[in-house]
Amino acid sequence: MKSVSIVLLFAILACVHGESEELPLAKPCNATACQLPDCRCSDTDIPGGLQPRHTPQFVLLTFDDAISELNTQTYRSMLYGRVNKNQCPIGVTFYMQHEYTDYTMVNELYNQGYEIALHSISHRTPQDFWRNATYDQLMREIGDQKQQIAMFANIPASTITGVRSPFLQMSGNNTFKMMKSAGLTYDLSWPTTRFTNPGLWPYTLDYRSTQDCVVSPCPTASFPGSWVIPMIAWTDLGGFPCSMADACFFQPDTEEGWYQFIIQNFERHYLGNRAPFGFYIHEAFIRPRPHVWRAMERFLDTINNINDIFMVNAKEVIDWVRDPVPINEYAKKECRRTVPSACTGRSCPPLFNPANEKTYYMRVCESCPRNHPWVDNPLGL
Ligand SMILES: *[C@@H]1O[C@H](CO)[C@@H](O)[C@H](O)[C@H]1NC(C)=O
Ligand SMILES: *[C@@H]1O[C@H](CO)[C@@H](O)[C@H](O)[C@H]1NC(C)=O
Ligand SMILES: *[C@@H]1O[C@H](CO)[C@@H](O)[C@H](O)[C@H]1NC(C)=O
Ligand SMILES: [Zn+2]
Repeated sequence: MKSVSIVLLFAILACVHGESEELPLAKPCNATACQLPDCRCSDTDIPGGLQPRHTPQFVLLTFDDAISELNTQTYRSMLYGRVNKNQCPIGVTFYMQHEYTDYTMVNELYNQGYEIALHSISHRTPQDFWRNATYDQLMREIGDQKQQIAMFANIPASTITGVRSPFLQMSGNNTFKMMKSAGLTYDLSWPTTRFTNPGLWPYTLDYRSTQDCVVSPCPTASFPGSWVIPMIAWTDLGGFPCSMADACFFQPDTEEGWYQFIIQNFERHYLGNRAPFGFYIHEAFIRPRPHVWRAMERFLDTINNINDIFMVNAKEVIDWVRDPVPINEYAKKECRRTVPSACTGRSCPPLFNPANEKTYYMRVCESCPRNHPWVDNPLGL
């Protein structure tokens, strides 16, 4: 009798333990139950049932990887002072890695009103590391990066809500489990080559995603309230899809060619269901290619002069999807405001990182860490 009840007790404990580990499987979306602002099925319908001509065309320009003095020069020249046609300053989002970042520049970009988002501490290779990454590894590489940026760039942690996985390599459920624990709202790493025309609008993972899984594994569990901004592929000159503009294989080689190339990809959105247009690129691609740089500036000049096009921070797209209002109302809204955050720049003494045996020369706001900040010691204590 006693041994039976002990066996039973163990069985119950094992079961409870198992349940806390097992995530609920996402079910097909129930459009009656899944309603804005907190839930949206994955589909190509315009939020709020708006007509395309009443829907703001959002443009998401994003830059990845380290933020340095050198690439900030490009950002200053290309982006600072730009406003949308409604006179609100443009938004741009930076998915930043810790390694090689100059945090005084992060502070500067933040004060320009741009969005700072996560792209891991180490951005380590190989890509397979990210595919296999456990929840725990992702917490240490990405979850911990939030406090790290807040500390060294002296910006509020609460403003950091987005993530893009290195190499766009998610680790399925683990990525979204990490996001939940780290208080992140959205992911912008999931490419789609199937839902490009009409484009897939951002959606939540309460229910099963219908999005194609281009870089597996993709999440299949239910993550209520977690948003996906699909990376809608461009089409290159050979007709092949590319998730990032600089990764397109068949590219133009002149300024006019690039300008037309951007416009053609843009028009698929603008003349279609107006799903947010992603312009995802690395500064290191632009700097040595004046023809790309000039074409981009021409494109930005063009869209900054059109009433129904808005360059915004990625998280502002989620805000709009949660509360979709027509263009005339949207254009009259108050502009985004950023509370300025001070930075007393410090050039830190060389810091040795035993993990990779490299020495780093960090620049940070306020005070230098004693040790090199890295995975497992994000604040360099
Ligand atoms: C994700 O979670 C679901 C639901 O628990 C499960 O069926 C699926 O196997 C998980 N995926 C991976 C890659 O672990
Ligand atoms: C969908 O959700 C509604 C409202 O919660 C519910 O009444 C209905 O039974 C659900 N349908 C299915 C197929 O689960
Ligand atoms: C990732 O997992 C695969 C399959 O289990 C394994 O072959 C590979 O060595 C792993 N790679 C890394 C970097 O962990
Ligand atoms: Zn990257």
